[in-house]
Amino acid sequence: MALLQPEGLIHGHYECKTLDQTLPIFTDLFAAEVTGRQDDTALVRHPNTDWTIIVHAAGADAPDKPHGNHYGFRVADHTEVEAAHAYITEHQQQYCLVSVSEPAAGHFAYSIYVGEPGGNAIELEYYNVKAASHGRQIAAGHWDSPLPEARFPGRGYIPQALSHGTAQCDDKETSNAFYTEILGLDIMGGGKVSTYIGHAESPWYVVVLPARERNYLRPINRYTLKVATAPDVLDAYDTLGKLSSGVTKLCDLKEDSGEASFIFSDLDHNWWEITSTDEPNRSPD
Ligand SMILES: [Fe+2]
Repeated sequence: MALLQPEGLIHGHYECKTLDQTLPIFTDLFAAEVTGRQDDTALVRHPNTDWTIIVHAAGADAPDKPHGNHYGFRVADHTEVEAAHAYITEHQQQYCLVSVSEPAAGHFAYSIYVGEPGGNAIELEYYNVKAASHGRQIAAGHWDSPLPEARFPGRGYIPQALSHGTAQCDDKETSNAFYTEILGLDIMGGGKVSTYIGHAESPWYVVVLPARERNYLRPINRYTLKVATAPDVLDAYDTLGKLSSGVTKLCDLKEDSGEASFIFSDLDHNWWEITSTDEPNRSPD
């Protein structure tokens, strides 16, 4: 049994420069909704995905994130990738987009990447549902009912879900062991070099790719795992603190109104948050 028993992978934290520039990218180009906004933080969610992105505005000096650290949304048909490319390219200036890549095919996938002005790439992908019959569980199950055109009219494409985030690692096998044996996550698939990790109860996942040259992110970029109770968070804190390897930084435990949480960086210097509450943590660290 894994050391942690998470109930879910519930949030991703995302760093940008300003909310005014970055939020319209999520809402106008990726069909997401802003479900809350306060000071330098906004909550962003796609209607088909119960995975909240907590967007933090860190100011003009927020570093650009490596391409290997992006989020991805999915469309239902491959022709929509080209439609999206046409529409987004046409509106590149309006949204101050740094780049829009040409549609490109990967293994079972077809996608474009949009460089948003907050220093991040966001992917729009089609993923061949036939891949599910090749054992790729990430190919299906991201929405029960597709968003109708009326919810995202006039673009020629409809992002139907937030499907994945990404992370980088040094060594695939060592990191996979950490995700499954320590964090209690599932391996949901993978290619020759990649691993898809996630929680069994939800379809979204994190693609982990080994990288030779790493550009470590700040704790403001992290994934949140929920455990059942505040005492479980305390147990996790104790357990991770006693590990001889696997945790490169363990930040202070925070306790408030009967809930508990903490942030740590793992063996690859990727940041995670362990919490007992569904309530998004608006603090950058
Ligand atoms: Fe991706």
